[in-house]
Amino acid sequence: MQEKRLAHLHTWGCQMNAHDTEKIAGILKGQGYDLTADPESAELIILNTCSIREKAQHKFYSYLGYLAHLKKRRPFIKIGVTGCIAQQEGDHMHELNKAVDFSFGSQNIMKLPDLLHSESFQAAVEDNDAIVTTDLPAQRDNGVRALVAIMYGCNNFCSYCVVPYTRGRERSRPYENIINEITSLATNGYKEVTLIGQNVNSYNGGCSFARLLRLIDNVEGIRRVRFITSHPKDFTDELILAMAELRTVCRHVHLPMQSGSSRVLALMNRRYDYETYIDKVRRLQLAIPDVCVTSDIIAGFPGESDDDHEQTINALNEIEFDGIFAFKYSKRPNTKAALMDDQVDEDVKSQRLQEILSCQDVITERKNKALEGSIIEVIVDGRSETDPNAWIGRTSTNKIVNFSSNDDLQSAQFLNVRIVKAYRHTLEGEVVAGVSCSNKEPGASWSGKER
Ligand code: SAH
Ligand code: SF4
Ligand code: F3S
Repeated sequence: MQEKRLAHLHTWGCQMNAHDTEKIAGILKGQGYDLTADPESAELIILNTCSIREKAQHKFYSYLGYLAHLKKRRPFIKIGVTGCIAQQEGDHMHELNKAVDFSFGSQNIMKLPDLLHSESFQAAVEDNDAIVTTDLPAQRDNGVRALVAIMYGCNNFCSYCVVPYTRGRERSRPYENIINEITSLATNGYKEVTLIGQNVNSYNGGCSFARLLRLIDNVEGIRRVRFITSHPKDFTDELILAMAELRTVCRHVHLPMQSGSSRVLALMNRRYDYETYIDKVRRLQLAIPDVCVTSDIIAGFPGESDDDHEQTINALNEIEFDGIFAFKYSKRPNTKAALMDDQVDEDVKSQRLQEILSCQDVITERKNKALEGSIIEVIVDGRSETDPNAWIGRTSTNKIVNFSSNDDLQSAQFLNVRIVKAYRHTLEGEVVAGVSCSNKEPGASWSGKER
């Protein structure tokens, strides 16, 4: 029998990248490759990169340095680079490091088979509208939860953000394609889908985002629908109503606030102020009392004063998010904020980030503790690798619950667990037999740290 060819895939960044890697894996399978976790045994290595912050970019360049050495020992290896750094660097990728054999942007994944066979360096980084209608065979390793792309790119040009330059203009996938994909996932046993895009609630592939949620709610077999990321400016009452009414929509919204200061939000070009933001959160909580709201915060945006920072801390205390991700502001190429005067000193950024995280930690822990004693429905996500009786479940509110059971549970099975102990980062539960759970499970929370 002919030996399989081995490919190693390495992914940084957001869920868009994670899903692109699933599509790359699907294409490679069709080309006769098996995947390996070990780069040293692969003959093809594809790096799916992120440039959201400088740190993410550094990680890629240092890994590429290691691969360039590896290639000296194994000169037959082919190295491809995709994702946001590939898009940003375009044709220059090969000049930056000669070890790279080809590069392609996220809109050109379908060109991978051709790139694999090219003899000299090739880059495919042009805009490509075909991305919204080309259905690529994603190879998902989880048989229960699936990522489904509904839109690509971003038109918002927040002044700190590189994404509009790396992912191009916003394009929505036609809703028929999305429903077909989700129907086929349901037929294959998937129970939960996460709709992904840079700004999912500005979706317009033939219907509104709220309407799309209603269509998905009718797909037989799908029990849970999540979506990420929502932009506060597009978070409409129509969407809140759909979320409150629909059987499948999970009670979790990730709604990045970025700052609690309206002055800074204007400098960020976010197109909402703090009052509008909190008003939307309150409306959401009114419609869905146990909803879990999480957020992203940037510490030390150019021009951010002590007073602006204080407003962010006050906002965290006023809103009481279930969890946040917080980041130090990082200068990105092409962005307006990179050229702004008043860049904040690194040590001030670090100090503010620490204050933000410490403030939120207390809130997250308090909200988690409030769940002790409550009964929550979880979907069984899998079992621990070390202890066969230790299981992992996930709540509608996207919280991980650890629990034990001697039964051989099926993944994708829904169970009720009582929360016996809550920590800042996890919940510990016990299985409750014979108790039926109402639709209104209490909002679990998750804790944030810097991604
Ligand atoms: N489309 C999403 C976010 C995508 S990026 C949205 O608009 O909310 C994820 C998060 O990274 C952002 O919410 C922001 O908090 C953070 N981020 C983006 N650019 C950044 C930068 N230059 N420095 C620090 N954090 C940044
Ligand atoms: Fe970046 Fe803003 Fe677009 Fe989000 S909405 S991807 S933060 S430009
Ligand atoms: Fe990173 Fe690009 Fe996603 S910059 S966060 S991989 S869109």
